[in-house]
Amino acid sequence: MKKDKTVEKQVKEIVDRYGAEKSSLIAILQDMQGAFGYLPKDALIFLNEVVDVPLARIYEVATFYNAFSLTPRGKYLVEVCAGTACHVTGALTLMERLERDLEIRCGETTGDGMFTLEQVRCLGCCSLAPVMRIGGNIHAYLTQDEIPKILRNYRQ
Ligand code: FES
Repeated sequence: MKKDKTVEKQVKEIVDRYGAEKSSLIAILQDMQGAFGYLPKDALIFLNEVVDVPLARIYEVATFYNAFSLTPRGKYLVEVCAGTACHVTGALTLMERLERDLEIRCGETTGDGMFTLEQVRCLGCCSLAPVMRIGGNIHAYLTQDEIPKILRNYRQ
């Protein structure tokens, strides 16, 4: 496979920022996620060449944290909370409505690249349940009837 020098250059710049140490891995991956919008396979392989961390460990960290994605995400990340408080107040209905309206399944990205739909464990604001977060904004006490309008606002 032909190496992408642009990807390597960007990864190298990020690594230089934090140092090629094991303890810098999460900070490096955060910046890579920000730079590429996800963690491309070739970028992770190159990262393994320049930091003192086994590739298996890099993948372990990259797949453990919800902030990281191995596939391209849409412009807006739609996170539906499925924690206990949200679950008992209708999270499943919200997810079903979002899947229907966005015409994707949880974990997928819309064809226009606008939205990626994901489920998360708890967004830390259980008293506002049920909640979803879009592009970092919390939508509280949500009902499925509000979803079309909310999505329209982000599309504009
Ligand atoms: S359970 Fe949904 S915010 Fe905590």
